[in-house]
Amino acid sequence: MKTFIKSDYKEACKIAADIIVNKVKNNPSAILGLATGSTPIGIYANMVQAYKRKEISFAKVRTVNLDEYVGLGESDNQSYVSFMRRNLFDHIDVDLRNTYLPNGKSQNLEVECERYNELLQSMRQDIQLLGIGSNGHIAFNEPNTPFTSCTHVVNLTQNTIKDNARFFPCAADVPTQALTMGLSNIMNAKEIVIVVTGSNKAQAAYDAFKGSISESCPASILQQHPSVTLIMDNDAARLFSLRTVLHKHQ
Ligand code: GLP
Repeated sequence: MKTFIKSDYKEACKIAADIIVNKVKNNPSAILGLATGSTPIGIYANMVQAYKRKEISFAKVRTVNLDEYVGLGESDNQSYVSFMRRNLFDHIDVDLRNTYLPNGKSQNLEVECERYNELLQSMRQDIQLLGIGSNGHIAFNEPNTPFTSCTHVVNLTQNTIKDNARFFPCAADVPTQALTMGLSNIMNAKEIVIVVTGSNKAQAAYDAFKGSISESCPASILQQHPSVTLIMDNDAARLFSLRTVLHKHQ
């Protein structure tokens, strides 16, 4: 695992965006696994800038997203499909027909999970971007999700509902369920970039990357992946010992 500790969120976003931009430069038809939450916003802003500077085209790229809230769709501001439009897709030349998310409005969630899972089998991510929940979740794989899981419906924990309430008018408006890629779908990516910033993520970062590999901390599965880049800011890395850091870039 390559580890970068940057001075702040902005610097962490720059390096994550550079990795993705370089991936697309080297492979214009790359399959990008994309994430939502507040962490990727700065990363996407840097990718949009690279596109506007004409350094890169996303015209041939295909994208798969990690997850979606059950019951929310394109017309809901808090849905992940609208987040992706607002923060990335509407500002670059990606063909929207090549962008995929689970459909939170599906009338049959089990069939939707099967559909998305099959899609993922035909679209192995060249690179998968991840954030992390304060309880160590990745995508919406909550603690104690089996490492073997594939796309499934999840009942969100109270912790996640509380954390994500800031995006909704109030906590009662946060959907209680989501559709999410499973941990095996994430591990299938050829390469993973995970960005962890802010002191509220320090414990999760420590548990995920310095703790034991355990289903109680879903992100700890990443210790078993052959190609992970972990990008933190100083606040998120405060429980890491400098001796254990492989690369330090300021
Ligand atoms: C949600 C998403 C995750 C994301 C997490 C952390 O739960 N499903 O993919 O990593 O939020 O979000 P943030 O970056 O806002 O802390």
